[in-house]
Amino acid sequence: MDDLLSLKQSFLAEIDTVSEIAELQQLKAKYTGRKGLVTAQMKALSSVPPQQKPAFGKAVNELRDFVDQTLDQKEILFRDVEKQKRLLSERIDITLPGKPCLPGKTHPLNKVLDEIKDIFVSMGFSIQEGPEIELDYYNFEALNIPKHHPARDMQDTFYVSDDVVLRTHTSPVQVRVMEKKKPPLKIIAPGKVYRCDADVSHTPMFHQVEGLMVDTDVSFSDLKGVLGLFIHSFFGDETPVRFRPSYFPFTEPSAEVDIGCIFCAGKGCRVCKTTGWLEVMGCGMVNPKVFEMSGYNPDEFTGFAFGMGVERLTMLKYAIDDIRLFYENDLRFLRQF
Ligand code: FA5
Ligand code: MG
Repeated sequence: MDDLLSLKQSFLAEIDTVSEIAELQQLKAKYTGRKGLVTAQMKALSSVPPQQKPAFGKAVNELRDFVDQTLDQKEILFRDVEKQKRLLSERIDITLPGKPCLPGKTHPLNKVLDEIKDIFVSMGFSIQEGPEIELDYYNFEALNIPKHHPARDMQDTFYVSDDVVLRTHTSPVQVRVMEKKKPPLKIIAPGKVYRCDADVSHTPMFHQVEGLMVDTDVSFSDLKGVLGLFIHSFFGDETPVRFRPSYFPFTEPSAEVDIGCIFCAGKGCRVCKTTGWLEVMGCGMVNPKVFEMSGYNPDEFTGFAFGMGVERLTMLKYAIDDIRLFYENDLRFLRQF
């Protein structure tokens, strides 16, 4: 019995120094394993005098259960501590703000371009394209602007060679389309154009949308109707519109389309130079000479054409006062659309 007591004490002393699960297993082997110290006492039961057997047997069984239970409890404790440590090291702070993933947006010019296309497509116009590097012939001559004609001074041209230019407007697409297709015709031609020009309202590259409608009896009323409808869809139904006589070599008669100044509501301000009106595009009835050069019979067909600056329309729609903002890629500007 004394042996059992000292076994228990040495077990308790040892288990106190244990710090990990592997050591617990060693202790288990040492005390209650097949060759363990407590197991040896159980085997010794047969040599105990008969009258002491029940008490000794009970005590040795209790000691074995005590050792096993203590080891099990310790193991549960160790596993708990381990788990707490792991949870602590794996902890994430869900209250931290996330990394923002900003979605891309459509550039304001593309947004307006899409809107312009939608309005004309809804009126039955189809979309055409032409080259940005253009023959002098299409950019000027076929539009009734001969070499050395003073009207060439209206547009500061980038020349690639004597016969090749960066197109200064989208009007050459008119001729290219007419060469390929027979009337009736209702097209718009959006795209980039280039002029040697740079200030707060001019950039060397900008966008235009050309329009052309040809049929047997297209009149100036049709021109006014289509462009009036466009402006009212784009700027709102109440926007005042006027057609002011102007000159383009490729249209006759020609006009500039003005809208009531959106900044001062027509009262007159710095932006509209006190006139109360803002120019938004050029237009006119296709000059019979252009028809002739494109292979259309001017006695049979009439038509109108127009050309608008996309940057200009965007600036007016969103009250932007510097055209260069479109090309600086400043996200503080672009995010506002
Ligand atoms: C033309 O380019 C004619 N081809 C328009 C036309 C087409 C008239 C068909 C008749 C029939 P204009 O040079 O005015 O016209 O240019 C048209 C528009 O382009 C202008 O109203 C303006 O909004 C825009 N624009 C002209 N130069 C620049 C520039 N450097 N930067 C930004 N926009 C410009
Ligand atoms: Mg003009």
